[in-house]
Amino acid sequence: MPLELCRTASEFRAACDRVRASGRRLGLVPTMGALHAGHVALVTEARRRADDAAVTIFVNPTQFGPTEDFAKYPRTLESDLAKCEAAGAALVFAPEAGEMYPAGERTRVRVEGLTAHFCGRSRPGHFEGVTTIVAKLFAVAGACTAVFGRKDYQQLKVIQRMTRDLLLPVEVVGFPTVREPDGLALSSRNAYLSADDRARALVLSRSLGAAVRRFDAGERAAGALRLPVQEALCAVGLAPDYVTLGDSETLEPIGDDAEVGDRALLALAVRVGGARLIDNVVLGEDAAPGASP
Ligand code: PAJ
Repeated sequence: MPLELCRTASEFRAACDRVRASGRRLGLVPTMGALHAGHVALVTEARRRADDAAVTIFVNPTQFGPTEDFAKYPRTLESDLAKCEAAGAALVFAPEAGEMYPAGERTRVRVEGLTAHFCGRSRPGHFEGVTTIVAKLFAVAGACTAVFGRKDYQQLKVIQRMTRDLLLPVEVVGFPTVREPDGLALSSRNAYLSADDRARALVLSRSLGAAVRRFDAGERAAGALRLPVQEALCAVGLAPDYVTLGDSETLEPIGDDAEVGDRALLALAVRVGGARLIDNVVLGEDAAPGASP
C-alpha cells in the first residue's frame, strides 16, 4: 500500500478512523523527524504489535527552551517519507505548527512528580511541551498502540503516566535503545557532532556499560555505581548536566550513600560540542551497551 501523507488533523483523524473501521489495529510512532535507524525500529515494532503503522513528524516548538536548538533542529521531510515508506508505514502525519497549536490556544498538559528530576530539572518546561503535544497526537489518532524509545526513558514513563491519568485509549509501549555498533545511542542530534566530538561521545555508553558490569557483579552501593560514570565524563573534559541514579518507576533520585535494589535507572545528559546528548541504562534489566573499553 502506498504511504498516505496527512497535513491536517482532520485528514489524519479520518485516516486513523478508516484503519480501525476496516478491523485493523493502529500502531503510532510520534517523532520529530530527521529519522534514523532507531525511529525505523519503532515503526517495525509498531507493525509487529499492530496492523498499520502511522508515523507523526512534527518539530514541537513548546518542548524546546528559549536557548535550545528548535531553529536548527534538522528538518528532512523528503528523506523521512522515503524511510517511512521503506519501513512499511501506512500513514504519515506532518502538520504545520498552526495545526497543532491553533491561534489563541491556552492549554498545556503537565505531569507532576516524574518530571521533577533528570531532564526535568535541566530543561524546565520541556516535559510540559512533550505531554501537551503527545496528548494532542493521541487525541487525533484515537485508539492505538503507541511505541516510544527507552533512549528517552523519562519521556516514556511520563507519557505512560499521562495516558493513564487522562484515560486515553492508547497502549504505550517502550522499545530498547538502538545503538551504533560501538555503543553510541542513535539520535537526530548526533548530526551536530564533529569527528572529535563523535569519538568523545563514546564515553557515554562505555561508562554506562561499565556500571552495568559492576551492578551485575554484585555492586549495590549507589555512589560506587554512579560516581565512576561522572568521573569518566569529566576525565574527557565533559561537564554533565546530570548523572543520576533513580528508581526506575517513580524516577525518585537515589543518593550516593544509599543501596540500590533489584532495578535502578542510571541516566545522564551531557553537552558534547554542539549537541546535548542523553543516554541511560536500567541496571538489573539492560545489558551493557557498546564495546568494552
Ligand atoms: P524524537 O527525538 O524524534 O524521538 C521519537 C521517538 O524515537 C521517541 O520515542 C524516542 O525515544 C525514539 N528514539 C530516538 N532515538 C532512539 C534510539 N536510538 N533507539 C530507540 N528509540 C529512539 O522524542 C521525541 O522525538 C519527541 O519528544 C516526541 C515524543 C515526538 C514529542 O514531540
